[in-house]
Amino acid sequence: MMKVLTSLSAALFVLLFTPLTVFAFEAPVYFENKCLSCHSIGGGDEVGPDLKGITEKRSEKWLIEFIRDSEKVINSGDPVANELFAKFKFKKMPAQDLTDAEIKALLEFIKTGKGGGAAAYRPATEANPFDVSMGHDLFIGATKFKNGGPSCLSCHSGGPDLTIFGGGTLGPDLVTKSYADYQDKGLNKVLAKISFPSMAEIYTASPLTEQENYYLRAFLLKENLKYQKTISEGDHSGDPKNKFVLLGMLGALTGLLGADAIFRKRRKKTQKPY
Ligand code: HEC
Ligand code: HEC
Repeated sequence: MMKVLTSLSAALFVLLFTPLTVFAFEAPVYFENKCLSCHSIGGGDEVGPDLKGITEKRSEKWLIEFIRDSEKVINSGDPVANELFAKFKFKKMPAQDLTDAEIKALLEFIKTGKGGGAAAYRPATEANPFDVSMGHDLFIGATKFKNGGPSCLSCHSGGPDLTIFGGGTLGPDLVTKSYADYQDKGLNKVLAKISFPSMAEIYTASPLTEQENYYLRAFLLKENLKYQKTISEGDHSGDPKNKFVLLGMLGALTGLLGADAIFRKRRKKTQKPY
């Protein structure tokens, strides 16, 4: 009986939601979820080729066939497909169960996809003061991350304003060092899929949202500009605005508590078998 009920409700669910999902094909979202991990638009070759200008390089018909089932096109002996396949070390691109119209929407998006690199990339230079303050609060832990990750300040310092009292020392200083090293676009990518050894385990389980990624970069950019200004003007140690310090301490505390909770959980896990 339970089984019948579950399959009935599953059928109902499909009936109810299928039309919605069909009409709601959103190329940018699909691209981000299914293509971005291997391709950039204007950010250079990655696992697969840079897709910038692809609609001028290949015919629409070829692109539709290749995107839907690249293996089929390769096996048909198509010279372009085989050359690509060899160039990209025989990595197979996953087949996509998409209609012609959906692939055309994707191609249209690729054509107009701006910003290079990540399709959904929103540069931090567009940020307004609200975005910056959101980033600050996330960084120090005054605002919680949606998926529950610990604050950055529990392991990193965030520039001169967030170094004196708050700020961990486990990771590099994100304002004075990392922001400049990675630049906004690079930071967007590494934060979208965090793979730094000390962070991967924590943030894979509780990834940052795209919005949080953007807010954090907005904050880091602002602080980085402030920092560069102080070095180019010489250090006016009288005027650093330390309004963040108190918040910083608070953030460090909550961050540490968060990290502690995580490590405690982990400790428990590792101790269990003994
Ligand atoms: C797992 C990695 C991966 C994913 C995900 C992926 N691709 Fe690819 N893609 C490749 C590789 C690798 C190639 C190079 C050809 C080959 O090896 O088959 C390629 C080639 C292509 C090409 C041909 C490029 C050219 O120069 O002609 C297009 C177009 C393309 N991909 C579009 C897409 C789209 C659109 C998506 C998302 C729906 C996507 N790919 C998802 C790996 C991927
Ligand atoms: C549990 C401690 C911890 C937390 C929390 C943490 N990080 Fe890290 N992070 C590190 C360590 C340690 C490194 C150095 C690389 C390594 O060992 O993994 C690092 C490296 C980085 C790097 C590369 C820095 C460079 O200069 O190469 C970036 C960027 C970064 N973290 C951003 C963040 C952001 C943003 C947050 C908050 C969302 C955060 N981290 C939270 C520990 C942490």
